Amino acid sequence: MLIWLKERFILFCIKVINIGRVPAHIGFIMDGNRRFAKKYNLGLNVSHYKGFDIFWETVQWCRRLEIPEVTVYAFSIENFNRTKDEVENLIDLARVKFQGFLDNIDRINQLGIRIFVAGRLSLLPEDLRAKMAEVMLLTQNNNKVRLNIACSYTARDEISRAASHLVDGVKNEELLPEDIDEELISRTLELGEPELLVRTSGEVRLSDFMLWQVSNTVLYFTDVLWPEFSIWNILAAIIHFQRHAPPARLEKRMSKKNQNFLDRLAKLKRQKLDSFL
Ligand code: FPP
Ligand code: MG
Repeated sequence: MLIWLKERFILFCIKVINIGRVPAHIGFIMDGNRRFAKKYNLGLNVSHYKGFDIFWETVQWCRRLEIPEVTVYAFSIENFNRTKDEVENLIDLARVKFQGFLDNIDRINQLGIRIFVAGRLSLLPEDLRAKMAEVMLLTQNNNKVRLNIACSYTARDEISRAASHLVDGVKNEELLPEDIDEELISRTLELGEPELLVRTSGEVRLSDFMLWQVSNTVLYFTDVLWPEFSIWNILAAIIHFQRHAPPARLEKRMSKKNQNFLDRLAKLKRQKLDSFL
């Protein structure tokens, strides 16, 4: 009875929040897993697995809130510098969870979730990369929520890879140097611009996450550790967004030439994904 009442109350709150504008794209820097382990005297791995459960629950709440795009920072290139044990455990967690996505692909497709992995995938083990590529390809036609998982990612690396693509475009004579403008750079990056970025655990840094994309983003920092993050924290973040949001920005049109470059790039990326399978 109490659980039922709590659920009804949450749904009521979601309805109230939905009267205002909710962000079209929300990003999460999921931080504080190790401090959570320490606080409750748990194994590190238990805490990271709990972090995954909260991540998935958060995605479901965002879906209920009709937020069409969610991006999470799951594993940074910097994280490869952690102890060998922890890196192996985090890679194993990703293996288990991406296999879980594949085992439940019908359910994910039913929910309309498109899963995209952003990052330098060549740094990840081949078998994990293959699972990620398969999940991306099997969910690519879903359009209710686009879920971007940044893994083996840093924003500076994403920007460097985009710069190489643009240089290739100029070398191949698809582009002239003067065709390169802000909009083209934005669209050459893997991730779009979030309207709201949430970081947990009391840290107030961006830690190399979506640096290009956050120029106009509302930032929300909370002391809650990621494994303790709940619907109430999501709602608080959205209320903060509703108080501070600038007007929604219109997407600029692309010239035909720049669009052709982006189409070819998308084709190349698709071929690369196929090669991971
Ligand atoms: C940050 O806390 C958390 C991580 C580096 C791992 C995040 C991963 C998950 C939540 C699982 C999601 C996985 C997938 C496949 C989507 P921390 O370890 O930096 O903890 P601390 O800030 O307390 O040291
Ligand atoms: Mg941390």
